[in-house]
Amino acid sequence: MTAAEFVAQLDAENQAALRGLEPDATLKPEVEGALNVPNLLKVALKNEIEATEIAARWLVTTDDVPVKLALARQVGDEAKHYRLIADRLAQLGVDAGAVDPLAGGYGPLFKYLDTLTTTVERVAAGQFTREAIAVVKNRQFIEFCERAGDKVTATLYRDVIEPDEYFHHQLGRSLLLRLAGTPEAQELARGAAARTLSLAEELQQAALKTAGIHHAPGC
Ligand SMILES: [Fe+2]
Ligand SMILES: [Fe+2]
Repeated sequence: MTAAEFVAQLDAENQAALRGLEPDATLKPEVEGALNVPNLLKVALKNEIEATEIAARWLVTTDDVPVKLALARQVGDEAKHYRLIADRLAQLGVDAGAVDPLAGGYGPLFKYLDTLTTTVERVAAGQFTREAIAVVKNRQFIEFCERAGDKVTATLYRDVIEPDEYFHHQLGRSLLLRLAGTPEAQELARGAAARTLSLAEELQQAALKTAGIHHAPGC
């Protein structure tokens, strides 16, 4: 199949899988104990620093100039998100400077992405799929913030962060249209996308089990 047909198919498969990440419409989020906006923003800091770093690692290990530039844009955006979230935490009375988001080490998704060596896999996993997951999770987080009465955080995500993450997804789409033209490349891309989705599902289930978190923002 052509790259365009492949990307349309992968997108449809991703979207179908992502519906599994969306909470049951009837499920009322249970805000108990530590499940609040500041603590979810601390989870977001870790996601943003990991997204910054993986894009930076890939930027220096590709010779493909359009890919370098897409990753450079992403590095800047994810670092900007980190700063905006840290600023919002400060407004909420949390000193983000005292938080080391990598104190517990890198997460499983970062570690998986760091093993990928081909550009088509990296773009399929890290941009096309991960950023599609981020869009879904951020929309859930925006709803969570609104229910919690935090309009400022909801607006930050709706007006700045979520549009950037969607742009990263679209960067992945435009690169895949060029890179996924052969059956071999398509197989690599499909495998990397599937692994990314399954890790996201596992992470969500683990977060739900251990901390009751099902609205953690993504990048
Ligand atoms: Fe992103
Ligand atoms: Fe981000």
